Formats: sequence, C-alpha cells, structure tokens
Amino acid sequence: MTKVLTLAHYYTIPEVQQMADRVGDSLDLALFAKESDADVIVLAGVRFMAETAKMINPKSKVILPDLSSTCSLVTMTDINELKKWRESYPDYVHVAYINSSAEHKALADWTVTSRNVDDIISHIHSQGKKVIYSPDRNMGAYLNFQYGYDMPLWSAVCEVHDKFNKQALDELFATITNQKYLIAHPESPLPVLKQSDYIGSTAGLLHWVKNYSGVSDAVILVATEDGILYNMKNARPDLDIRQAPIYTGCKCNSCPYMKLNTVEAVKKAQNQTGGVVIDYLSQDTMDRALVAINRMIDFSSR
Ligand code: 13P
Ligand code: SF4
Repeated sequence: MTKVLTLAHYYTIPEVQQMADRVGDSLDLALFAKESDADVIVLAGVRFMAETAKMINPKSKVILPDLSSTCSLVTMTDINELKKWRESYPDYVHVAYINSSAEHKALADWTVTSRNVDDIISHIHSQGKKVIYSPDRNMGAYLNFQYGYDMPLWSAVCEVHDKFNKQALDELFATITNQKYLIAHPESPLPVLKQSDYIGSTAGLLHWVKNYSGVSDAVILVATEDGILYNMKNARPDLDIRQAPIYTGCKCNSCPYMKLNTVEAVKKAQNQTGGVVIDYLSQDTMDRALVAINRMIDFSSR
C-alpha cells in the first residue's frame, strides 16, 4: 500500500491542518520531509516548500495541491538579475531565505529560515566573512539594524507581511488601555519590528503565545498571516489574541497562495488524482541548491 505523508504549514486553513500528519513552520516541514520514508509527500504549503522537500527527499513523490501556490518573494525575483547581483559581490557569502525558488537556492551558499537566520548569519560573520542576503528586504533590514551588519540586500518582500504598518498599529495601540504586546514575523517592515516585544518564525510566535505568563487581560497583537491565529487561539483560549492591523478596512491579512490549499485540493493530492508532482527540477539545479540547503540542515541539527 502506498504510504502518504501530508505536511501542512501553519498558514493553511484549520480544516487542512486537521487533515495533515504534521504541521509546522518552514524548517519543520523540511525536517519532516528529510526523515520521512513515505512514498508520497503531500505538501500543503507553497511551491518553494514542496521543491525543498523534493530536493531533500528525492526518493519520494512530492505533490503540491495547487500549482499556483507560489510566494511573492519568489515571483518578485528575476533569476537573471539575481545572478548578476550575486556576481557583483564575488567575495561575499550569499545567504538565501528558504522562500526562494530552487534556481535561486542554486545561486546561494546557504539557505536559512526565519527560525535560524539570526544564528546562521551570526555564525558566518564570526568567521570573518562578508554576507549578502536575498530575497527578503524587510528581513535583511531587520538583521542589519538588530546586529549592526551592513549586508547588501536583494529587494523583494512578502506581500502579506509588508502590509503591516506602524501608523495603523499606533492608531490601534492608542485605543487599547490594557497591557498590550506585539509579536511579529521578521518579514514585517522594520518600523513594525522595532515596536515588537518578540520577533520570530511562525513556530517561534506560537511558542511565545503558548508560554505567555503575563497579565490575563492583555491584548496580544500578532503581525503575521492569519492562519496561525487558529493555532494560537486553540493553544491559549484564555488570551485576547488579535491580528495586527493593516489599512484595508477588513483588518485581516491572508496569504492567497497558502489558501489555495483547499480541502478538496489536498484530498485530490492525497489520492494522487490532482495537484502537481514536483518532477520538473533539473538535476544540476537540485544538486547545487542542495549544497545550500544541507549547510542549513547540518547547522540546525548541531
Ligand atoms: P516560517 O518559516 O516562519 O514558517 O515562515 C514561512 C513563511 O512563508 C512566512 O511568511
Ligand atoms: Fe510567501 Fe508571504 Fe505567503 Fe509566506 S505569507 S508564503 S512569504 S507570500
């Protein structure tokens, strides 16, 4: 019988998370794929996550439920321009955020996720090396500010996190008299991150909420995609957890690509009657990208 493993990211809808064998952040999903002996891995997330799973576990058939589930950090990056940019810094180590295409990773020396980016870049700097960072300009600006680096940055953003803004936050803060906290994903703009009480990956943000032990009537504002609010409220129904505001009137902020993982699409992928099989990457691209991915995985398992 075919063994199918379904992995889901925290940003997918609750019904899809409930269909999954494992739910996690980007690093978790890569590690779950690495340790899997399933014949088929259904990756209910976005395309770069499925491509990463395929490169890490080439023996498994990896299926992405919907081919259109990309990521703005990928679509905003032209690979030929990236190549020229990388070549203009020959003495630098190129660190690429995992939210990038396989071709992009093949031009990098390391990959990182939002969970290990601080530690990996600090490790590379501690070896006296210079670093260029791509593709997330917001995350790079945060790292430069936080640690005093002057890393040249590629300029793409997450279209979801880039919408959070300081002015909307200030206006909301002014209306809340209770104790308030802001926790944020590092893809958010720097002025928002500067105001945050905690900055971390999706798993890190969830961990912060689970372990919250402050006053019981505090308002906790979360600057990340709305899917994970489900996990947070489930873990801590006693807390007032709200998504941070944006200026669209709806005060909501969803990733359109993650939400393409409908129950129907995931079911079809599990039955192998739908979705896209990740079988289109060239061996050369996979081999080069895997060098950068494996450096991160080896570092993370130290
Ligand atoms: P995490 O690695 O924190 O899960 O982030 C993935 C992502 O796409 C954030 O927008
Ligand atoms: Fe990409 Fe942003 Fe969606 Fe994450 S939330 S997958 S970074 S577009």
